[in-house]
Amino acid sequence: MNMTRNTRNVPAYMLGHGSFARLDSLVDARRPGAVFFYVDDFFRNTPLPGDLPARAGDSVIFLDTSREPTVEDIDALADAARTSCRGALPCCLVGIGGGSVLDAAKAVANLLTNPGKAEEYQGWDLVKNPAVYKIGVPTLSGTGAECSRTCVLTNMRRRLKLGMNSDFTLFDQLLLDPGLTRTVPPSQFLFTGMDTFMHCFESSRGAYRNLIVDVLAAGASALCREIFLGPGDMLADDNREKMMVASYLGGMAAGNVGLVHPFSAGLSIVLHIPHGRANCHALSVLGEFYPEEQALLAEILERRKISLPLGICSSLTDEQYEALYQGTIIHEKPLSNALGADFASILTRSKILELFKKM
Ligand SMILES: [Fe+2]
Repeated sequence: MNMTRNTRNVPAYMLGHGSFARLDSLVDARRPGAVFFYVDDFFRNTPLPGDLPARAGDSVIFLDTSREPTVEDIDALADAARTSCRGALPCCLVGIGGGSVLDAAKAVANLLTNPGKAEEYQGWDLVKNPAVYKIGVPTLSGTGAECSRTCVLTNMRRRLKLGMNSDFTLFDQLLLDPGLTRTVPPSQFLFTGMDTFMHCFESSRGAYRNLIVDVLAAGASALCREIFLGPGDMLADDNREKMMVASYLGGMAAGNVGLVHPFSAGLSIVLHIPHGRANCHALSVLGEFYPEEQALLAEILERRKISLPLGICSSLTDEQYEALYQGTIIHEKPLSNALGADFASILTRSKILELFKKM
């Protein structure tokens, strides 16, 4: 049987410094109806909320991004939107922030048109009805959340990080304004940017690649090298624009990832380490599988004078080690993508814990 998959991308985007000013006309085209703006809490006391094209009846909701969104968060946001709209649907949702905010907006949009709880849609192609129209405005580059067909949600009850993988999860419109990433701290810029690099090499080395994925991944990886190893300030205007484009291309290349993301997910579930930094911790001990990439990460960290704390898993409880193991090994798709169906014979429990203890 031919296993070729039909691939859908975000249908429209605007790219460029200052493009945020176009949000007004994009939102206007969707009215009448209420618009919900989900905004990273980071912007609460900045000029950005004053620049939102919000009118009476719209809602501006600031989201705490100190941790990644949970299924309960999404249930609560969808309930609040239903109550506010008295049974009607919003005409548009806008997510303005990093990966967590974009993913939250995507998940709420799905849940507003599909019955039940968010956790019922964690998995592949479980969303039945098209979502509410949604616009993504990234303010941090690297996760690829702006163009991916998933929205990663933490489910503590099931000790699981898993998205609603669906074509309905894709944004309808993107606004890519590098001006919005001007205030990102250097370490966060690097760790999150490296997420793109991980998506690219993991996807292009796995079993589910094709030539389009390869070309997108090569383009995004080349941009990452220019930004992180090139001369000058990695946060310069042109580099932030390149990072925004790398994230977008890398997000489209990210089909199925490899070993880095399962280990990273374990760290996020147990120690609540943000995704980008957790990836870097993971790659730092996966040199036997990814020697070139591990060396490149070390070179980049050295070049940009940013260090990863060591010993993060050196003295945990037995329960935490068990959770790290379970939170990693549960990701069968990417693990088998990297190592084949027999991955559990290579990644034994003791092997996985040995790697975590090296971090
Ligand atoms: Fe990622």
